Amino acid sequence: MLPLLLDRDLDFHNEKSSYASHSWHPFAAKFPPQLPRAFIETLTIRGDTILDPMVGSGTTIVEACLLGRRAIGYDIDPLALKICKAKVTPLDTAEVEEVGIHVLNSAKRTVKDRKAVERFLSSLDVRTREFIDYWFLPRTQTELASLILSIQRITSEDIRNFIELVFSSVIITKSGGVSLARDLAHTRPHKDPTKTPRDALTQFEQKLAKAVRGLHALRSSRRGIRVCRGDARDLKLKDNCIDLVVTSPPYANAIDYARAHKFSLVWMGEPLSALTELRGTYIGTERTGKPETSALPRTAQAHVETLAAKDASRAKVLAKYLVDMRYVLKELFRVLKFNRAAILVVGPSTMRGLRIPTHELLTDIGESVGFTSIGCAKRALDRNRRMMPASFRRNSASGIENRMHEEFVIGFHKE
Ligand SMILES: C[S@@+](CC[C@H](N)C(=O)[O-])C[C@H]1O[C@@H](n2cnc3c(N)ncnc32)[C@H](O)[C@@H]1O
Repeated sequence: MLPLLLDRDLDFHNEKSSYASHSWHPFAAKFPPQLPRAFIETLTIRGDTILDPMVGSGTTIVEACLLGRRAIGYDIDPLALKICKAKVTPLDTAEVEEVGIHVLNSAKRTVKDRKAVERFLSSLDVRTREFIDYWFLPRTQTELASLILSIQRITSEDIRNFIELVFSSVIITKSGGVSLARDLAHTRPHKDPTKTPRDALTQFEQKLAKAVRGLHALRSSRRGIRVCRGDARDLKLKDNCIDLVVTSPPYANAIDYARAHKFSLVWMGEPLSALTELRGTYIGTERTGKPETSALPRTAQAHVETLAAKDASRAKVLAKYLVDMRYVLKELFRVLKFNRAAILVVGPSTMRGLRIPTHELLTDIGESVGFTSIGCAKRALDRNRRMMPASFRRNSASGIENRMHEEFVIGFHKE
């Protein structure tokens, strides 16, 4: 089955990906829903348990849910967890609509209450306040503070989580948006002082209506779906309990989720210092430490050495990424049942002009921890849809631009 699946067209360029809750919130490098669906439908039956140890916006978990499978999702990113939870939680549409409209009306009143807004803003610590002052105009700060003050009063945790997703989707956008950042959905914030940010209350109203429409698709129960904070390198799961893994790990040195997500998380009570601290635990970010590469396969070590000859500090970033991914693959091998598959979607990187064939290196690492590699299929990226970091320079020859036209679907088997 798995070899046949890897042979089929996995591009899905002409297929609609905005059904159910999939497009409620932008997320850099999320994969098309048809991708996990193809593997879940073919390799599992109803009641089986699917794992995505790096859920991101939850595409795998939403598909597992729609197909009646059990699912477990982990991530360390607080915004990813919020988005994923909301996208699989069925709610009463009329009740959510009512709460959403109440939030909006109450925010419209609070906008005029300078004292309430100032109380909220002055309750933030100095660094968080400076960050907000740098990226949001005073008018927008008032609008967002008014919205969040109303959202904080929602008593149902599930509804509040849903409304927070809507709130965040007002800030993290591909274009437009309410901050002074040019584009946050592609995750590298650049300030544009000439930008006229949109009105946050109008945006909230529009995004709320869209998300509420999608709630209908989630009418079935969420039994058997678990989404929680967890590190993919150290899974809190028993051995041999998972029927299928479908996941897309971060690319090496490519997308800095923490840097973009703080734009909405600071409004939801996460202090900037805590988010900065958390950043060090994301796989693929630039924090390096002292990675011990001796357990890596020879091919992986050779790439680190070649890069080190050009740039020692970049080589450390790559080494850290590969060592982290070895821990992840070891964990996936441990928790997967025998005779079951793990699917990883990942792309190559270019570092200091050196092409890093991440898919090949991860295949070798996977084999070194016990997996049998069944194949590695290439898929072409539809750049308009799979939101990869944007280039703001014309004819950019940057590494990010060069490396992101294709990615690979690796199929592993636990014999
Ligand atoms: C490419 S995204 C996943 C996108 C997802 N497939 C989707 O469709 O939305 C990679 C995710 O890995 C998460 N991540 C990074 N380091 C992690 C770690 N140590 N443990 C768990 N998740 C991690 C990031 O926060 C990010 O959400």
